[in-house]
Amino acid sequence: MKEKVFIETYGCQMNVYDTELVKSILTKHKFSIVDKEEQAEIVMLNTCSVRDNANRKIYNRVHEIKKQNQNALIGVLGCMATNFKKDLLDNTKLKIDFIAGPDSYKQLPTLIEDLRETNEKTYDINLSEFETYSDVYPVREKGVNAWIAVMRGCNNFCTFCVVPYTRGRERSRDPLNVVEEVKRLVSEGYKQVTLLGQNVNSYKFEDFDFADLIKMVSDVEGVERIRYTSPHPKDYPTKLLKVMAERDNVCKQLHMPLQAGNDRVLHKMNRTYTKQEFLDLIAHAREIIPNVKISTDIIVGFPTETQEEFEDTVEVMNKVKFDQAFIFKYSERPNTRAAQKFPDDVSEPDKTKRIVECVELQKEHSLESNQSEIGKTHMLLIEEEFSKKNPELAVGRTDCNKVVSFLRNNNKVGDLVPVKITQASPHGLRGLL
Ligand code: SAH
Ligand code: SF4
Ligand code: F3S
Repeated sequence: MKEKVFIETYGCQMNVYDTELVKSILTKHKFSIVDKEEQAEIVMLNTCSVRDNANRKIYNRVHEIKKQNQNALIGVLGCMATNFKKDLLDNTKLKIDFIAGPDSYKQLPTLIEDLRETNEKTYDINLSEFETYSDVYPVREKGVNAWIAVMRGCNNFCTFCVVPYTRGRERSRDPLNVVEEVKRLVSEGYKQVTLLGQNVNSYKFEDFDFADLIKMVSDVEGVERIRYTSPHPKDYPTKLLKVMAERDNVCKQLHMPLQAGNDRVLHKMNRTYTKQEFLDLIAHAREIIPNVKISTDIIVGFPTETQEEFEDTVEVMNKVKFDQAFIFKYSERPNTRAAQKFPDDVSEPDKTKRIVECVELQKEHSLESNQSEIGKTHMLLIEEEFSKKNPELAVGRTDCNKVVSFLRNNNKVGDLVPVKITQASPHGLRGLL
């Protein structure tokens, strides 16, 4: 009899991908995956630690699971495991049975076996300089989208960020191995491939850099669209921008995490660029890739950020007019340099005021960006045959990552269809076939 495992995933796309790896590893051993928690003998939570609210959700979930399914073993995987380490197991209120960090998933069968044998909690939170799981083929969701990790880890140590501690040092996969996997994905019917890494554009394998990798993947016959996430502004050489411009199947979409617009704050964050350098990079990218759509991440209320310094972030937003932005309040993470060196001294009301201002401003910019598409025709890759909001509509995505719904006409997931944009809101577009 196989042991039944239920896995729940939190956090970023890399975690979603890691869950697919874990499923692959487990099903090769004496486990099966179930989609209902009640049926499970083992519940695994693949966790995130990037902001405080991510942790709190998990603590509540652990209590809930223990209440509903008293006999199930509970395992915490992912970034919380490497962030809080054995404290998670030692916390008697939490009742977690085993933990495994992002580089320890091949150990899961052994961890569970040892636990069953000895009745003692087990853990493996070692970080590796080599593990890329390139020999594990993920159990992916069916559909048009496939994600593939090409590098793992981060060496940047932005002072606010826990990721370099939870996921360890950068390491990249052999590009030939990536290309083989992409070929297999195409033969299985996937149309859009997203290359993943915590710091994806710092990819480096022997003499191959990220631009080389993109070229090699874009040469694979049958890949309709290539995206990647998450990049860092420091790794955007002209060579990469040119490859993006030249290749039809590389999406004309850039993520450029700004984090803050003020030079003093950027320096304290260890972001390695100034406001002007960031603005110059955006101008350069727009010159090389005309009509490129640009998204960003912003943190408000980093320690010691004054109102005046925050206005620099607003100024950059107004100058760039990002097509999309993910905006966060600073959240102090244990063990990061910021937590050790700078007290979290911007008040909660000030953080709230700043985030509201950015969110409102971004809404205007997103609306402007979406309105500028009205009247244009875009090729849509259909991702949902029936929209959840209105089953008469199908939903697709443009090359530049905008979501469009339109009256369906026997369209199937994976079709590429031309749709003329007719209406825009800050969140999406409507179109006509
Ligand atoms: N490696 C990825 C993921 C980092 S986390 C990247 O660099 O993009 C994604 C975003 O979360 C970051 O860009 C940042 O804006 C935000 N973030 C990270 N740590 C944070 C913290 N301590 N408080 C608030 N936001 C944070
Ligand atoms: Fe964090 Fe910076 Fe690494 Fe992104 S690049 S994960 S923000 S340290
Ligand atoms: Fe979260 Fe870890 Fe991803 S902290 S954002 S799950 S890299």
